Amino acid sequence: MNISTLIANIGEIDFPIVLIGVFEDEENQVSIDVSDSFSKLIKEVIELGDFEGKKGDFSVLYTQGVIKSPRIMLIGLGKEDKHNLENIRKTLGNASRKVRDLGTVKPAVSLDHFIGNKLNKEKATEAIIQGMIMGSYQNLTYRTKDLDKYKHLDEIVVFSSTTEESVLRKGAESGKIIAESVNFCRSLAWGPANYITPTKLAEEAERLSKELGVKTTIFEREKAKNVGLHSFIAVAKGTDEPPKFIIMEYGADKKDVDTVAIIGKAITFDSGGISIKPSQGMERMKCDMTGGAVVFAAMEAIARLDINLHVVAIVPATDNMPSGKAYHPGDVIKSYSGQTIEVISTDAEGRMVLNDALTYAAKNYNPKVMFDFATLTGAMVVALGEHAIGYFANDDKVADILEKASKTSGDAVWRMPLWKVYDQQLKSSVADMKHSGGRSGGAITAARFLSKFVMDVPWAHLDIAGTMEQTSDKGYNPKGSKGAGVRLIIDVLRNWK
Ligand code: BES
Ligand code: MN
Ligand code: ZN
Repeated sequence: MNISTLIANIGEIDFPIVLIGVFEDEENQVSIDVSDSFSKLIKEVIELGDFEGKKGDFSVLYTQGVIKSPRIMLIGLGKEDKHNLENIRKTLGNASRKVRDLGTVKPAVSLDHFIGNKLNKEKATEAIIQGMIMGSYQNLTYRTKDLDKYKHLDEIVVFSSTTEESVLRKGAESGKIIAESVNFCRSLAWGPANYITPTKLAEEAERLSKELGVKTTIFEREKAKNVGLHSFIAVAKGTDEPPKFIIMEYGADKKDVDTVAIIGKAITFDSGGISIKPSQGMERMKCDMTGGAVVFAAMEAIARLDINLHVVAIVPATDNMPSGKAYHPGDVIKSYSGQTIEVISTDAEGRMVLNDALTYAAKNYNPKVMFDFATLTGAMVVALGEHAIGYFANDDKVADILEKASKTSGDAVWRMPLWKVYDQQLKSSVADMKHSGGRSGGAITAARFLSKFVMDVPWAHLDIAGTMEQTSDKGYNPKGSKGAGVRLIIDVLRNWK
């Protein structure tokens, strides 16, 4: 997608459609002093009651020569005192699909009509571009028919008559990088399991290495075994699809910077293994590598934004399949940490691949903090639904960092308890621990299990099972994979210290 910025007045520009935000509050509805006839055009729609400025209100006006651009889209923003960056992303996310489907390929967005009286102009520009790029995302990779019927946006223009060009440019640039990485996450996460294999993910890592200088190391099955990643390999035993333990590093050569590790569960298909899942809805389990996709997307953005940190990313990638070679319920597995694990359900495979990745990062890279992203439990879907990411932290400072990043990025999070009492459910009569503690408190016992593999490193586990996808178009999330968590982790990293 092309992005451009322009210092101009609404009366001077000529684009197929101009997007204007309008507040619900009467005294503050439209401030456009281009010409009386232009103001009149807009006021009339409002006075007729056809458009009130409420959230979700839209109106397309044909300007009939009153200004150069032939169309205007009024976009309701709701009450001004409730306005924020996330409101910009959401309202423009919805608008972006309407604009696209009108066939207007080069919309211009008036920054001055989206900032209200308190938003930072660079951040507002960033949010505008994010809303437009994330909202108009569509994935046609796997279609062959009627491709010419799908419409696209070619370019998004942000203009203002009251802002420095450099401010607009900076906001537009970071907005584009972040939104494109969210879309990258969605394309991986929503991709079918026969295309998005561990091998394909390894190829993406190689691409990041070639294009952006990310250092990439990949352990194949044999190497992973030799290194001692037996818990990861236990899950991979049942599949003929070659597993990959993917390690990426950005900024390894930077001096005097902190090291942060990010880890993502990448079960490229979760059939449940021997503890096989019911077939109804099983196709959704192609998304069980969303955590890995979040990590890939974050690495791409971090490198493009040139963040001053050393970031280590680990993505354990494998299918979870039943076969004559698959691991069984009751197996005892020795993890990379040396602790032994009694397997209860082979469908609790996420924590099997993650525990090795967490210990591997903690032991070999000595990170200041670790974050893991995983579509880990159905219990989290039940607990928080599709709106918020539930996270667990062993350190209040790490929790604070996430809460702050949630506010700036708009990715909603909610802290869950990581209390020791839940360990009772993980007691095993044959090994150091069981790897699952039954249905009750299932998201919490999973987090407690992981906490035993982080070697006292400050850490947060983000269970994104509920937020991995959405059932209908909503705001900047078109139906499908959402890419939730990508903006959050980017804000954690770019606002570091
Ligand atoms: N990948 C699933 C969790 C999941 C469920 C993600 C629904 C997205 C939507 C995970 O591997 C799993 O199967 N978890 C089990 C654990 C149980 C066997 C202890 C679950 O939550 O049922
Ligand atoms: Mn599973
Ligand atoms: Zn899974």
